[in-house]
Order: sequence, then C-alpha cells, then structure tokens
Amino acid sequence: MNTEMNEKLAAYGVVPVVVLEDAKDAKPLADALMAGGLGCAEVTFRTAAAEECIKIMSAAYPEMLVGAGTILSTEQVDRAVAAGAKFIVSPGFDPEVVDYCIAKDIPIYPGTVTPSEVAQGVKRGLKVLKFFPAAQYGGVDTIKALTAPYTDVKFMPTGGVSAKNLADYLGFKKIIACGGSWMVKGDLVKAGNFAEIERLTKEAVDLVKQIRG
Ligand code: 3PG
Repeated sequence: MNTEMNEKLAAYGVVPVVVLEDAKDAKPLADALMAGGLGCAEVTFRTAAAEECIKIMSAAYPEMLVGAGTILSTEQVDRAVAAGAKFIVSPGFDPEVVDYCIAKDIPIYPGTVTPSEVAQGVKRGLKVLKFFPAAQYGGVDTIKALTAPYTDVKFMPTGGVSAKNLADYLGFKKIIACGGSWMVKGDLVKAGNFAEIERLTKEAVDLVKQIRG
C-alpha cells in the first residue's frame, strides 16, 4: 500500500505541516517551500481555507506532493482529493477513513501510538504509519519499541519535531520522514515572512542531507 508515495515522502525526509487561515497565502507559501527545496506539504483541514489552498498549491506546482491533514471523515477525504490532495493524513486511526482510502487507492497515513493501533495498520497492509503526537508519546524510543515486534512497518512522526531534534528521529532508519510545522509557523505566514519560511525550509533540507550523510 502507498508504496510510491512512501518513497517520495521518504526522499524529502521532512513534510511541512501547514495551517493556512487565508487562501491568499497558499501560492507564496508553495513558492517558498519549493524554493527551499521541499516539494511536499500537509495542508491541514483545520481551517475553512484548506480546500482552496490545496487547489491553489496543486495548480501552481502540479509536481508538488500536496496532501491533506487532520482528515476526520470520508466526506473530507472526498473534498480533499477533489481539491487535488495526493495523500491523506489523519491524527488518529479511524478504520472507516482508512478503509475508505485503501479501497480508493488513496495513500493514507493514519495516526497511531499504541501497539493495538499499529496492529490495525499492519493488518491492512500499510507499510508507513504516522506516529502522533510524537513528543508526548515517547518520541523515537517508543517508535523503536514498536518496530521490534512490528518489523515491517515504518513511521512518520509528527508533533514536537523541530530542527533541534530532527536528527534523533531521522537517525533511526525506520523513520522515513518527520512532519512538522517549525518551518511554516503561523506567525510567519500571518506576517507574510515567506523569506524566513524559505530559509527555514532550506535549513531543514540541509539538515536531512547532513543526517543521512
Ligand atoms: C500538528 O498536527 O499540528 C502537527 O503534529 C504539527 O506539530 P508541530 O506543530 O509540533 O510540528
């Protein structure tokens, strides 16, 4: 499941988690991410502007891996995909949402933190699961513990990841990429400081290169 998208996201190593309040920010944000070297983003469905932002970013950069995050229902899956989302991320493991995406061959990254949740993903053939909220649930140590019995699954941790601790996560080979908002903070977007977003994006890209050697 999801093999091609797993590989593409793994190649980036970092997936910016974006909360956009205003669709006017979508294009400059996509410009900054692309200029910084990150051709991917998870646009969260926490704001009314999310759908429009996905449309704008996908239209501006068809090759960009624009996904939809905070997806809580199958109805949101449909709206996100219609807007151009190429993958779906959910904070928790909702079997209805997961099964719906699998049936439609839409790459899905459901949130998991416990062995029971990981088991649900493994049973469905998912090879990469989100681990959220990563910091509060023990970070890389918990992921290491989970991958001991579940040998065939990899993780995309999100929540509390930053440039400061990225190496701890990406240093473990069963972590394909980290999600995070540190390079696309809401106050930077609101201030229109896309130059700083581009700088932080470049810094993240360089860090991934350094960590992976
Ligand atoms: C989220 O859903 O908000 C993400 O997990 C981002 O977390 P972060 O802001 O700690 O990077």
